[in-house]
Amino acid sequence: MNLKDLYINFFVSKGHKQIPSAPVVPENDNTVLFNTAGMQPLVPYLMGKKHPYGKRLCDYQKCVRTNDLDEVGDSYHHTFFEMLGNWSLGDYFKKEAINWSFEFLTKVLNIPVERLAVTYFAGNEIAPLDTETRDLWLSLGINEKHMVSTKEDNWWPNLELPGLCGPDTEMFYWRSDDPIPEVFDTNDSRWVEIWNDVFMQYNHKEDGSMETLKHKNVDTGMGVERVTAILEGKNDNYESSIWSDIIKEIESISGKNYYGNEKSMRIIADHIRTAVFISADPAGIKPSNVGQGYILRRLIRRAIRYAKKLDIDINSNWEERIAIKIMDQYETYYSEIKENRDTVLEVLRLEKNKFAHTLEKGLREFNKVSDSDIDGITAFHLYDTYGFPIELTEELAKEKNIKVDRQGYEEYFKKHQELSRTTSAGQFKGGLGGSGEIETRYHTATHLLNAALKKVLGEDSKQRGSNITSERMRFDFTCDHKLTPEELKDTEDLVNKWIKDDLPVTVKEMQKEDAIKSGAECEFADRYPDVVTVYSIGDVSKEICRGPHVKHTGEIGHFHITKEESSSAGIRRIKAVIDDNKKGE
Ligand code: ALA
Repeated sequence: MNLKDLYINFFVSKGHKQIPSAPVVPENDNTVLFNTAGMQPLVPYLMGKKHPYGKRLCDYQKCVRTNDLDEVGDSYHHTFFEMLGNWSLGDYFKKEAINWSFEFLTKVLNIPVERLAVTYFAGNEIAPLDTETRDLWLSLGINEKHMVSTKEDNWWPNLELPGLCGPDTEMFYWRSDDPIPEVFDTNDSRWVEIWNDVFMQYNHKEDGSMETLKHKNVDTGMGVERVTAILEGKNDNYESSIWSDIIKEIESISGKNYYGNEKSMRIIADHIRTAVFISADPAGIKPSNVGQGYILRRLIRRAIRYAKKLDIDINSNWEERIAIKIMDQYETYYSEIKENRDTVLEVLRLEKNKFAHTLEKGLREFNKVSDSDIDGITAFHLYDTYGFPIELTEELAKEKNIKVDRQGYEEYFKKHQELSRTTSAGQFKGGLGGSGEIETRYHTATHLLNAALKKVLGEDSKQRGSNITSERMRFDFTCDHKLTPEELKDTEDLVNKWIKDDLPVTVKEMQKEDAIKSGAECEFADRYPDVVTVYSIGDVSKEICRGPHVKHTGEIGHFHITKEESSSAGIRRIKAVIDDNKKGE
């Protein structure tokens, strides 16, 4: 049995109810991009709200921590990990928590007590020295010399951060073949932290004061990746059974051995795994230039760069093969992985295609400009023209021992954002990077309008531009006359009929020539790359386009033409809105 199952079975046998892992993107908390700890989705219940499953809970929670994204590549950093946890919501406290921690470690995982050490809270003006915890560990047989008390390191999350907190006791394991030292030294990295029991009793308010909670909770956390590696006797987390199939697949794709290529393979394995979980999440995150989407983009793009370092043909289906191995491994634990396999593969493939054809050129450009430090405008140019996230430029610069003017970059970035906000270029760029849900609906409506005009006015009607804001859409097309009220009504009715039919929107990747031959509409053939994505809406529309689009036309809402006017000679312009209130009608 693996660690997750052993853990859950153990705590269920101690009267806990297993709760499902919450999504990686927090549902009711926009203060963080991702869940970073098992307790995060439980905050309202730790604060006193009644949990429908009772007072004793346990789970494995998907967590994403991206502060150290660029550190991934060593033997123990991960951007995604699973955290095991058991909770008491005002039920049991220190005695049971510590007894069960000890029982699980020594009886279920069979860790010899000599290999364990613990820390506990040393006391300060908020709470006293935690003698109760010390005495409990002593009574269980932990050697006094394997115990250390601290102030700073035994307060979770720490003494500064606002929010739920409390003193904790951390458990350490001697991860070395060297003799176990008589005295525990927290600075010796051969002692590895494996579990944390937090006695969560306070709410640290923004004004600095500590409010005592209505009830005393227990919140614990154990990292699956680290503890699995320890139990399997591996010093490198990526050598454990969690990673073996994934690393093997990368070895097979690249024809290279893990040993000698550890950094690249770890980065690819870690980043693709995190990208799988983010893109499978019900929040529907897509790569973009903001928020979670930007993290997803950075992960995929960094993985691509390291795949290239391993001489993997990045236009092959390498990312799909790795993602499939990952999904095979996790789908029995997480239903969203099972349900969203196709979405995950599509997200990875589309983002790869976007980046693949600029990466090579971007790297050449970087080599040209990196004889000396990189200034702001150059870093911005690498971002804007070649899609290099600033962090990628920084990483490349670090490898060359040069600096990047990050502040200068941020200034250009801001200027550019303001510029694109104030200009309404009126040109359909195909690809609404960072577009929101409403723009996405307008975007699909644009395709429907294009198709409807061809039906009403004839195939000669051609798109000549479009522009979308969150308030309305504008569409220019060739036509030699002012549209009659009947033509307008027919067009509007047809679009609404297709919306009502709830037609599926599908996407396919094709060679540009094949796409055009197959009849896909395209406004600017010469501007597209050789491999394009083609969006089809039922059998009413087929266009070369970079998306994003809704999945079904029913998501669009009611379509209404507000204006028809001349744009220029031979070109008419339609303005239209979609009405949210009538969505689904
Ligand atoms: N919330 C505690 C942690 O993340 C258990 O370490």
